Amino acid sequence: MNFTPNLVRSQFSALQQTHNDLPVTFLDGPGGSQVPQSVLEAMNAYLGFYNSNLGGHYFSSQKTTGLMKQAREHAAALVNAESSDNIVFGANMTSLTFQLSRSISRGWQQGDEVIVTSLDHYSNVSSWQQAAEDKGALVHQARINERDCTLDVEHLLSLINSNTKLVALTYASNTTGSIVDVKRVVDAAHAVGAMVYVDAVHYAPHHLVDVQGLGCDFLACSAYKFFGPHVGIAYIAPKWLHTLQPYKVEPATNEGPGRFETGTQSFEGLAGVIAAVKYLAQWGRDQDSLRQKLVESYKQFNQHESAISERFLSHLADLEGVALWGRTEADSELRTPTFALTFDNHTPEEIARKLGERNICVWNGHFYALGLVRQLDLEKSGGVVRIGFMHYNTLEEVDLLFDELKRIIKP
Ligand SMILES: Cc1ncc(COP(=O)(O)O)c(C=O)c1O
Repeated sequence: MNFTPNLVRSQFSALQQTHNDLPVTFLDGPGGSQVPQSVLEAMNAYLGFYNSNLGGHYFSSQKTTGLMKQAREHAAALVNAESSDNIVFGANMTSLTFQLSRSISRGWQQGDEVIVTSLDHYSNVSSWQQAAEDKGALVHQARINERDCTLDVEHLLSLINSNTKLVALTYASNTTGSIVDVKRVVDAAHAVGAMVYVDAVHYAPHHLVDVQGLGCDFLACSAYKFFGPHVGIAYIAPKWLHTLQPYKVEPATNEGPGRFETGTQSFEGLAGVIAAVKYLAQWGRDQDSLRQKLVESYKQFNQHESAISERFLSHLADLEGVALWGRTEADSELRTPTFALTFDNHTPEEIARKLGERNICVWNGHFYALGLVRQLDLEKSGGVVRIGFMHYNTLEEVDLLFDELKRIIKP
């Protein structure tokens, strides 16, 4: 099936609405995407008829057990995990990362080292800083290149040594959109026996994750960023699934991925995850596997997102009094269509508020990417305006944004 913005948009009620008699333009994707009708219906159907817990001898519990299995299979296809056993669910990426950090750091001791980055959302920084502090391990923070707000991979690689136990890094910046060469870091970390924990929260809505291709040890993402509900997803590589000792309650299962899942999961959320993966796969061919369908769909997303970035950057070149913090190339291999801007005569908060008055939804601030705004010295001045497009956005929405920006900043 061919990807067209109209076909996409017809699946999202949120994109059809008006507010105060004006259309709405959602450019806040990196904070959370809109949700298609099929996901809403799947969640509604589960809660309406099958709300239950796992392992009972009656129809709704059996349905719930089957749903959990299916959710793991769909998430495994999305990240290309070896098996659905390698998928763990949780409340969100941050909770999962804190939870897994306890198990991963059990054996750390004084003299061990951990590497985090200044490009990351702090869910993938604070978790490791706190785990390291508990064990007396040393934390290094890799810098960003200030010229284009990409990760300084050379600096990160220079920090890796025989004491390194873990490298935690993002696959794509939720603030500047820059994509990281994670594979290169995985290879270098593995050469000294260190593990790699990848934050793919911002990457997953824009690019198809391939954990086997990366060879990473752990990877986490969040369904509410890829058109689903609020559910966190973590991949655990086969070699760690049974060797890591989880923090768990005694009677809970000690088998498979359930070992790492605390308490009762959001089954309605898992129904939504299955539907979200199906939504993402719909541009593949009927005869293909789910994974292959996802490959085909993402090719189309990438093409459209590159066109959006190109339109955005060409408008930006004509606008005075604005600075872009990030790469200037539109290529979707290098960046997601997420842009960080500051304005000469307006604070980020002012711009976001004025756009918000026109139903153009953007965020301002640091988005928990504290290392980035600190290194760029933007923390005190209110961070940046973040404009984040998804594949449901149109070129006309890019034009509309710039019409409004011109109106706001006109001298
Ligand atoms: C890149 C990145 N990592 C991690 C997170 C945290 O995800 P969650 O809200 O699922 O804890 C976010 C949330 O904005 C994010 O953008």
